[in-house]
Amino acid sequence: MENKIKIEIKNLNFSYDEEKYVLKNINLKIYENETVCIIGENGSGKTTLLLCIAGLLKYEGEVKIDGEIFNENLRKKMGFLFENPDDALFMPRVFDDIAFGPKNFGFEEERIKEIVKESLEKVGLPGFEERVPHHLSFGEKKRIALASIISYSPEILLLDEPTLALSPVSKENFLKLIKSIRATKIIATHDLEVAVETGDRVVLLNKGTIKKVWNKSEVKSIKYLKNFLLKEPGER
Ligand SMILES: Nc1ncnc2c1ncn2[C@@H]1O[C@H](COP(=O)(O)OP(=O)(O)O)[C@@H](O)[C@H]1O
Ligand SMILES: [Mg+2]
Repeated sequence: MENKIKIEIKNLNFSYDEEKYVLKNINLKIYENETVCIIGENGSGKTTLLLCIAGLLKYEGEVKIDGEIFNENLRKKMGFLFENPDDALFMPRVFDDIAFGPKNFGFEEERIKEIVKESLEKVGLPGFEERVPHHLSFGEKKRIALASIISYSPEILLLDEPTLALSPVSKENFLKLIKSIRATKIIATHDLEVAVETGDRVVLLNKGTIKKVWNKSEVKSIKYLKNFLLKEPGER
């Protein structure tokens, strides 16, 4: 059976200041339930691309999700894990941060309690409902931010530098957790280990342009990808 196209990006261009384009002529099809890792140097446009896909920026060109251009109904199909979990956690209690999505999308009160409990169990923090988000460790905040997304079961996960600033053990656990979630995933990362470990495909972004797309079988090692980054013309 042919894989279903989940996200289709066509001739996407974006600039923050209408002078310098940060994304240039991006064309990419992403299939249902595949994991695509976007790698590239700082400033290459990884975060901006995720924000465009999420409909959080106004771009030129087209992004279709399940064949539809961006509309409010598509919002609940997508979960965005921000690079900094503090950008996602703004409630006084963990419970309310995780309940926010399900409440917005009209779930019943009793069901919401169950969902929060289940989400916390899934991220390995059972019983954290009454904790204060800004008192948690960085790794715990990351997991609560992820729980606040999986609480409404989005079909698409947009993950921005998910392993950044995590200790080696937290990182391994967090990667396992991400892998265990069934969804179409786009992961922006400059951590090549994440790309090698999780990517069904790896996309190299350089100064806002897609330079290369590898299939899993072509991505042999971190060293292979690193060499490629070092060889990029115009870089160092
Ligand atoms: N809010 C913004 N306003 C203006 N320029 C921005 C803004 N955010 C990012 N940029 C610029 O856009 C480019 C791409 O940034 P970004 O998408 O954050 O790259 P990456 O995530 O790959 O590090 C960079 O040159 C960055 O300085
Ligand atoms: Mg970024």
